[in-house]
Amino acid sequence: MNILRSVRSRLTAIYLFSVAMIAVPGVYLIYSRSLKVMEGELGKYAFNTAISAARNVKYGVLLGDKENLRSGVIQVMGNPDVVYILVSDSRGKVLIQRCRGGWDSYPLPTIETTPDDLSTRKQVLRDKTGMKFVDVFTPVVASRAQNPDLYAQQALYGFTERGRPSGEPRLEKIGTVRLGVTFANAYARVKKTLFSSIAIFLVITAFGSILSLSFLSRYLANPLRKMAEIAYWIASGNLKKRVKIRGSHEILSLAESFNYMVDRLQSTIAQLEKVNDRLRREMDEKDDFLRAVSHDLNAPLRNIAGMASMLMRRYADSLDEKGKDRLFRIMKNVEREQELIAELLELSRIKTRRQPFSSVDLNEVVEQVIDELSYDIESRGGTAIIKDRLPTIYCERNRFKQLFQNLIDNALKYSKEDEPPRIEIGFQERDEDYLFYVRDNGIGIRDEDKERIFHIFRRVQSPEASKVEGKGVGLAAVKRIIEAYGGDIWVESEYGRGSTFFISLPKNAGGMGNGRKR
Ligand SMILES: Nc1ncnc2c1ncn2[C@@H]1O[C@H](COP(=O)(O)OP(=O)(O)O)[C@@H](O)[C@H]1O
Ligand SMILES: [Mg+2]
Repeated sequence: MNILRSVRSRLTAIYLFSVAMIAVPGVYLIYSRSLKVMEGELGKYAFNTAISAARNVKYGVLLGDKENLRSGVIQVMGNPDVVYILVSDSRGKVLIQRCRGGWDSYPLPTIETTPDDLSTRKQVLRDKTGMKFVDVFTPVVASRAQNPDLYAQQALYGFTERGRPSGEPRLEKIGTVRLGVTFANAYARVKKTLFSSIAIFLVITAFGSILSLSFLSRYLANPLRKMAEIAYWIASGNLKKRVKIRGSHEILSLAESFNYMVDRLQSTIAQLEKVNDRLRREMDEKDDFLRAVSHDLNAPLRNIAGMASMLMRRYADSLDEKGKDRLFRIMKNVEREQELIAELLELSRIKTRRQPFSSVDLNEVVEQVIDELSYDIESRGGTAIIKDRLPTIYCERNRFKQLFQNLIDNALKYSKEDEPPRIEIGFQERDEDYLFYVRDNGIGIRDEDKERIFHIFRRVQSPEASKVEGKGVGLAAVKRIIEAYGGDIWVESEYGRGSTFFISLPKNAGGMGNGRKR
């Protein structure tokens, strides 16, 4: 659910959810309450309608006037809520009836009544479709004077309207009206009202949500987004940026903490830079020192070498065997020392004296290295293979050759005596860098030595390793080379079971194209 990731959409979802949670039972409650009230009102209404209908048809019943009955009934049926009307005389004979949709639809129970029963009765029933209706049963009443002579004239008007006849009038049931009022129309009206209310409610809710969301955005989402933006700026090195936002108390305190953090970060970075500068200067001084010492040592050594070879040439005859042997050992030592000094000088130059860059096919470089070592490899029955096709990169060819030379040479040198060396060179392209490795099945490296072997002159003191000659400069040179490209080197190894040296090389190694890089 990607769409629910942002604060804004989550809040919208929560908002709509809570509106629905309130609205659904709310609407149901209003609906059922309205139906109750409406049913009650409709009952009273049906009652009144029946009574006025009884009054309407009174003369018709009294005088047996069909015309009068019909016009009275038609008038009552003009009301769309009235679904049937049934007028009977006092003996129960039906005088006139009207029904909407046929009598079959309205199953009416018979109502027992007596001539003296003047009560009006009401019941709620259901029609064939299940719709409720009110069935009202009411008497048509006339009153007869005790003096029958007056009755003939006064019956035309009903007795109570005009003058009081002599003697007490006597109420008499002259017929009945049975009338049905359906709830269907009222239900439809309630529903219609309810739906239009819901529509209005939804419109209001929509407005409300837009309004509250814009507030939320203003006070919550926007400040957060802004802060994220500024955090991005800061992460990309623009430490002068600060968060300036308006918003709620919490957001403000967040912004304050954020700014405070950036302040601290800025001062820490400044301190670190100072320390870094000092370290860099010290390292430069060391490099200079290394260069100067190597250089200064070289001159007297050259001198000694010259003298020794001169002695050897001119005075060899006058020296006995012992003397010659000593002289020879001096020359050998001087030579070794000169080689070492040359290597140190070379090492000191890796970062400072960059060589020409070109597009270098590393397959070709590694193949050449293997070729140069092929005698050593084959004489021991070993193999060296390039596992994956290596990339072509823009770099200093000789440095990369030196790098692979050192690693492959070590893999060969530190192999087991009783097992032919198997060397594998591989590569993997990752998102941001290339990862090279040189793997062997040699003597392996103990955990405690895995860091230190990359330092100059550090060699492993194990019995297997110390059998092999070396100066302890190779890996230091490799490390310097790869660091000049912003890369890294490390080793994974299990003692006694071989080692794998990994080299990561950033793809955008700035130094690669632009020469100098620290
Ligand atoms: N492939 C390897 N297997 C086991 N040990 C190794 C391997 N490569 C390097 N080493 C250890 O790391 C030390 C430093 O290596 P290096 O700097 O090349 O110096 P050197 O080879 O001249 O001794 C070595 O003396 C050796 O003990
Ligand atoms: Mg070495």
